[in-house]
Amino acid sequence: MKPYYDEDGVVIYHGDCLAIIGALQADVMVTDPPYGMAYRSWSGARVRGDGSVAARDAALELWHPRPAIAFGRWSVERPRGVRLRLIWDKGEWPGMGDLALPWGPSDEEIYVIGEGWSGKRMGSVYRSDRMAAQDASHPTQKPVQLLERIIERCPPGVVLDPFMGSGTTLVAAKNLGRRAVGIEIEEKYCEIAAKRCSQGVFDFSNELADNRVAQHDNEGATPQGVLLEAMGGDQCASGPEDL
Ligand SMILES: C[S@@+](CC[C@H](N)C(=O)[O-])C[C@H]1O[C@@H](n2cnc3c(N)ncnc32)[C@H](O)[C@@H]1O
Repeated sequence: MKPYYDEDGVVIYHGDCLAIIGALQADVMVTDPPYGMAYRSWSGARVRGDGSVAARDAALELWHPRPAIAFGRWSVERPRGVRLRLIWDKGEWPGMGDLALPWGPSDEEIYVIGEGWSGKRMGSVYRSDRMAAQDASHPTQKPVQLLERIIERCPPGVVLDPFMGSGTTLVAAKNLGRRAVGIEIEEKYCEIAAKRCSQGVFDFSNELADNRVAQHDNEGATPQGVLLEAMGGDQCASGPEDL
């Protein structure tokens, strides 16, 4: 299959990852798949395939037994084989969730699957402010620095993100000097990801957002993250700040 983009160790495929994963050589999957929550932003933007976790689970099955990191949401069934659930603490401001409750969601889950993880032992909470809508080019774009901190503990080799969106995982991998492969079903996001990846070693489009990321890495420190166990339901749409 002809790549959409192939430069400096980053390869992007435009298409359905379920038809492509089997033909790829990579070493660790790091992905932020459709959560199965029927996401809708304030502006009405949706995420393709987000009506269920079927695509996520099918991709992980195709990938099994290789190591994987996958983002997810507390209210939706976790994937098979989760060894540890990390938390992304997204900062002070709550998302919408169930507006009848006096809490709004401000965290997401990150699942660790398979073998080969390494690095200095740290807590399970990553504190990193969510992307502000004006800095994002995808409705559920993740902060580059958050992905960098996760990829640092991944097994060596090529990083695969089969649900790459705007290419944050690829940018983070490239910043760390790692090769990466991304797949995205929406061509407009392939274009955005290719632009971001061709910007050189650092992804300047995210510098503003990343400057808001708390600098501690939780290593040897008390995690500042707050896990609100009693989150509201997700029947309400999420805002653009609720990424
Ligand atoms: C949650 S978003 C990823 C956002 C990304 N982390 C970022 O920072 O921009 C998931 C992406 O998966 C894409 N997607 C959904 N189903 C897909 C499939 N079967 N194959 C490839 N991409 C798919 C969606 O279009 C969406 O852009």
